[in-house]
Amino acid sequence: MNPRLTSLQAYPFERLRDLLAGTTPPDLQLIDFSIGEPRHPAPAFVVESIIEHLHGLAEYPKILGSETLRKTIIAWATKRFSLPEDFLHPEHHVLPANGSREALFSVAQALFDSSSGKDLILQPNPFYQIYEGAALLAGATPFYLNCGSSGQPDYRAVEPKIWQRCALLYVNSPHNPTGAALRVEDWDFLIAKARQYDFILAADECYSEIYFDEAPAGVLSAAARSGSLDKVLAFHSLSKRSSIPGARSGFIIGDADLLAAFRLYRTYLGNAMPPFIQAASAAAWADEKHVIAMRQDYAEKFSAAAEILGDLLPIERPDGGFYLWLQVGDGEAFTRDLYAAQHVRCLPGTYLARTAHGTHPGADRVRIALVGELDTCREGLARIRQFLQTSS
Ligand SMILES: Cc1ncc(COP(=O)(O)O)c(C=O)c1O
Repeated sequence: MNPRLTSLQAYPFERLRDLLAGTTPPDLQLIDFSIGEPRHPAPAFVVESIIEHLHGLAEYPKILGSETLRKTIIAWATKRFSLPEDFLHPEHHVLPANGSREALFSVAQALFDSSSGKDLILQPNPFYQIYEGAALLAGATPFYLNCGSSGQPDYRAVEPKIWQRCALLYVNSPHNPTGAALRVEDWDFLIAKARQYDFILAADECYSEIYFDEAPAGVLSAAARSGSLDKVLAFHSLSKRSSIPGARSGFIIGDADLLAAFRLYRTYLGNAMPPFIQAASAAAWADEKHVIAMRQDYAEKFSAAAEILGDLLPIERPDGGFYLWLQVGDGEAFTRDLYAAQHVRCLPGTYLARTAHGTHPGADRVRIALVGELDTCREGLARIRQFLQTSS
């Protein structure tokens, strides 16, 4: 067995299962706020497109994906991030991925070079668990950058000796779970550091389309300002944007040399996107109407949270994403007691972060994923209200 497997930590949902085992909830329907799995109905035209293209089962899909898909993605990214028309080339700058998760994981396996003298993969803390697992299995050492009150790490405080050892930096904007997004100046700063210290900037922007006021800046806009994609890889997904996590559809876009190496790796890995998912994904990326409606649905849920809980807890609408990252004291005790009292499941912040630099940035938090339909979320939030009132 690969000995590195033993360095992986238990996944948060496994830990949650253990935490709640032996607790008997009341006889109410379970409301599950623990998983960040969008549960809005999939757009009908996407489902129809999948069905219409099922005949494609008789073909082996290409790792590079269809030209239609790549061109559609590039048209989307060019418009969304206000890029110059010829900044992205469909042959060199984009690869489809079976969801952003596998791409975020495999990029470290493909591109981390243990003989380079650079041993660290930097990541935010709290974080999407794949970053840490990817670093460990690639043979790198994860280095945690604690998110401060802004909800993002203070990248300007990272010391030169750490940048020197950095092979790859995972950035998440908007961030899961804090919801904080970087500004374009932050991306400028990180791109400059990646080029100065020769590391890969892996920008996980899978929540970039779930926002409320302003569309969050993306790394691609900053790359275009710098005139190059050197060292930059951006990861996007339809899971949140179009509420189709089951389709497993995303893409990687950026530096042509890095993508050429990644494509070679993926040829051996064999994770091409099924042809009917490619066709439906092109249809989804070409349409904004359903995304606008989706954003409206999430905005209503954040308004409901403020209305139902706002006098008991500080509820703020984040820059993006669909999480409440609530400060509740002991997050594990809150999660267990809420489940026992109201049959509502949330996720302790402890499970999403590690102790680093003398502090644990998730210990006093829980994450509430507002992913269900509005009525279900309202019911769950009302039960949290009742729990807070009876337990205090
Ligand atoms: C921060 C972050 N990145 C990436 C992903 C992966 O999403 P997908 O593989 O569905 O694109 C998730 C899923 O929850 C996430 O929270």
